[in-house]
Order: sequence, then C-alpha cells, then structure tokens
Amino acid sequence: MKPVIQEALNRQINHEFYSSYFYLSVSAYFESLNLGGFAHWMRLQGEEERTHGMKLFDYLHDRNGQATFEAIAQPPIEFQSPTDAFQQVMQHEVHVTETIDRLYELAVQEKDYPMQVELQWFISEQVEEEKQARQILDQLKMIGDQGTALYLLDKELGERESDG
Ligand code: FEO
Repeated sequence: MKPVIQEALNRQINHEFYSSYFYLSVSAYFESLNLGGFAHWMRLQGEEERTHGMKLFDYLHDRNGQATFEAIAQPPIEFQSPTDAFQQVMQHEVHVTETIDRLYELAVQEKDYPMQVELQWFISEQVEEEKQARQILDQLKMIGDQGTALYLLDKELGERESDG
C-alpha cells in the first residue's frame, strides 16, 4: 500500500471515530433533556460510526498497511436546542461525505482499484446517513422543539434498532 493511501485511510479512521465521539456527545445532550428516544437514536448512531472506523481499520490491515492512532478531537458538548443539535449532525455528515469523496478521488488518482471498490460502500452509506439526518432535522423544524409533537418524535426515535 502506498504511504499516501495509508495516511489518508488513517485520517478517515480518525474522522469516523470522531463521528462516534461526537454522536455520543449529542446523545449525552439529549439524556440531559430527558429525551431518552433521541439519546438512544444518537447512541446507536455513534456505535454505527465506530463500525465504519473498524471497517477501514480491517481494510487497512487486509492490504498490509497499519493503523496509526492520532488524538481524537473534543466534540461540541453544548447545543442550543434539539434542532440545533440535528443541524450540527447534518453539517457533520455533509463534511464526512466530502472526506469520503476526496478519498475516492485519491484512489482514482493513484489507480488503487481495490480501494475504489471498498469506498463504494461508504459512498452509498453517506447517501443514507445524510437522508436520515435531514429527515429528522426537517421534522424538528416542523414541530419547533416542543410540546406533544416532540414527545411523540422522541418515542418514535426510541424504537430504532441496532443495525449490527
Ligand atoms: Fe461514518 Fe456518518 O459517517
């Protein structure tokens, strides 16, 4: 594996683990509001991000590379409202999509065909992740962070089951 590819994959692993950390922080925020359904949903999202990091970790070693661990940045810990929290989640997912796109461009540039195949899964996953975040954000904007509707959305999000 070329060093430039190994470095880029390691950076992406860091992004995925940061995402996991960030979503756990959002989950903690929802716990503090006693919105257990939102907290549950974000906690599962955080666990899913960890599996994304591990998928790249395994791929790196399958290709005879090595994971090198850099510090994971502190995520935001304060949010203005549930809508603000999901706004930040949405922005973050758009950012992650950009990092995956750049990684794919690098794989094309370096003619790394196995990596292009590996990244196709991530490209499809990002479409799904952005869609989910956008749907919940739009629902929050509609109901305006309060009342019975927020209570019902919390119940609905609490029913999310683990994908893994
Ligand atoms: Fe692994 Fe939500 O990006």
